[in-house]
Order: sequence, then C-alpha cells, then structure tokens
Amino acid sequence: MFVLGIESSCDETAAAVVSDGKLLSNVIASQIKDHSAYGGVVPEIASRKHIEAVSSVIARAMAEAGIDLKAIEGIAVTRGPGLIGSLLVGLSAAKALAYGLNIPVVGVNHLEGHIMASFLLDKKPGFPFIALVVSGGHTNIYLVQNYHEFQLLGQTRDDAAGEAFDKAAKLLDLGYPGGVVIDRMAKKGSPRAFEFPRAMKDSPDFSFSGLKTSLLTMVKKRGGHFTQSQLEDVVAGYQEAIVDVLVDKTVRAALEHQVAQVVVCGGVAANSRLRERFTLAAEDKNLELFIPPMILCTDNAAMIAALGEIMLKNGRSDSLDMNAVSRWPLATSSSCTLRGVS
Ligand code: KG4
Ligand code: ZN
Repeated sequence: MFVLGIESSCDETAAAVVSDGKLLSNVIASQIKDHSAYGGVVPEIASRKHIEAVSSVIARAMAEAGIDLKAIEGIAVTRGPGLIGSLLVGLSAAKALAYGLNIPVVGVNHLEGHIMASFLLDKKPGFPFIALVVSGGHTNIYLVQNYHEFQLLGQTRDDAAGEAFDKAAKLLDLGYPGGVVIDRMAKKGSPRAFEFPRAMKDSPDFSFSGLKTSLLTMVKKRGGHFTQSQLEDVVAGYQEAIVDVLVDKTVRAALEHQVAQVVVCGGVAANSRLRERFTLAAEDKNLELFIPPMILCTDNAAMIAALGEIMLKNGRSDSLDMNAVSRWPLATSSSCTLRGVS
C-alpha cells in the first residue's frame, strides 16, 4: 500500500512515502534559519513558512519515491500535539488531497509517530517494549504493550529535555537549535569539570528546571565570562546531567517491568552522547536497543506515514472534518482512540 505522510506540527514541513513498511522517500524542509534570530520557534512565522513549503515538499516526496500522486492509496497526517497554526497547514493539505484523490486520510499522534519510527528499522522492536520519547516538548517513558496501547511510566514535571538543551544554548548565546550546538561543543569538553545536579533520582519522573537554574547561577557568578575550553566543559557537564537521568530512568523502567527491548526516539535521541550512553547501558544490562537513525529522530513524515500505513491497513481512517489538537497525551488517547478529541 502506498501511503503519503505529512508532518507540520512545529518547524519542519515534511512529506514521505512508505509502502509495506519500506521508506520510499523522506523530504524535510527545515525552518531553522527563519527562527534562529528569535532563539526559538515563532508560531506565526512557522505557519506561514509551512504554507509556503507544503506543496513543493509533497511534490518532492512524490518525485523521490518515483510514483505519481494517483498511485497513493492513503494519507497519514500529524493531527497533534503541536502548534495549532502549523498543524492546520499539513491537515488542510492532507484533507484536500484525500478529497481530490478520493482516498482515506488518517490523523496520527506525533508522539506515537516518533515511537513508530523504530518500525522503519530493518530489525523492528517486538511488544512489549519501553519507549523513551525525548524531544523539544516531551520527556516521557512509556510501556508500549501493543500498537496504540501505552502506559505512561514517567514524564517531566517541568521542562522537556530538548527545552533544557535549547534554553542553555540561549543562555550561553551559542545559537539555535541548542541541542545540536551543545552536542557538537560537548565533544571537546570534559563532563566532570563542572558539577550539575541530577533531580528526582528516586522517581520515574524528570525535572530539568533545577539544572537550568544551576547553569544560570554559574553564569551570573562569573559575569558570563568563560574561556572557550571552559565553555566546552560547561556544556559537556550540562549535557551529561541530562543524559544521566534519561538513561538511568529508562533502564530502570525496563528492569522494573522486565521488558528487554528499549526504543529511544524524538529529537533529543539524535544526541551523540545519549546514543553512546544508551548503547553502553544496553550492553551492560542485556537490553536490546532500538534508536532510529538521526534523520528519523528529529521531526519527519516517514514516521507518520509508517504508523499511518499500519492504521489504514487496520481499517482506521478519519472524516474530513477532523480537527487539529494542540494537546493529545498518548496514554489516555492513542491515535486510534481519539473519538473524545475534537
Ligand atoms: O522531535 P523534535 O524534532 O521536535 C519536537 O517534537 O519537539 O525535537 C526537537 C528537539 C529540540 O529541542 C532540539 O534542540 C533537540 O530536539 N535536538 C537535540 C539534538 N538534535 C535535536 N538535542 C540534543 N542533541 C542533539 N543532537
Ligand atoms: Zn517531534
């Protein structure tokens, strides 16, 4: 089945074609340069840029897949969570195409999409597995029992891990998006030169606001003066504090629930130190680790098309009056149980 996926929940306009679980194309138009001057995503700019990009991104995805739009048998589109104005652009494009081509359309949960990116790997996870979804908006640990069956085991009480990266980079004036810059700089630093706190050690939940405050205090104490090598040490220590808790709590969840497979996904899963530490921890604890390649960790439409294909094959589809949803927690309403969401 040829499925076109469309994603526009934040600052990436993306389209992809999947057929029988195989990725045929994956096109992403990033808006990074449009938002970098503001140090974060400006929702109004994001919606306008999505409108400018969406048609050509879809056309490129079709061309890369080497098929005509008429061959598409179903459309999967991110319905939420995300920025409403951004979501509406992808949703409108998806509905227009579904109507014009007379094919089904299905609305997909973005978080569930991130998890299902692991199903595009050659070796796929089997249920049940533990999933850490770690992005700019979420830091959640789930026990995934089956398609659309999630138990939320832990979540952040304040900032998401990606937000903690982005805010630190902004504070240190390192550029945007923060996660990528810090990842690169931290490679040159020592993670032990500066000590940062690890919060809520005995809880399955996360908190990153104290970490951010300790960085702010450090910056203020020094009047913002750091040599380049001190700065590299600072970001390495800061990154290590985030990575430590992400790895610790996820591994602990797997051991506590006696689940041997672990999926790590979402934008922060592109972090090289996180990938390295998870690989070591999995070896140590005899866990099987599934981390999608970087391009499938940050926002993309391949994950939406992959999940959409599974849903469409199971007879799921939505009516053309489905609306975007800004908040859509996974454990209470998965992609196929969204009847309560309007
Ligand atoms: O999943 P994603 O692309 O968008 C959301 O759904 O939020 O995640 C974006 C987040 C941003 O906070 C960004 O700084 C972070 O992922 N990120 C990284 C890296 N690449 C992206 N964080 C740490 N290291 C990276 N290499
Ligand atoms: Zn995302």
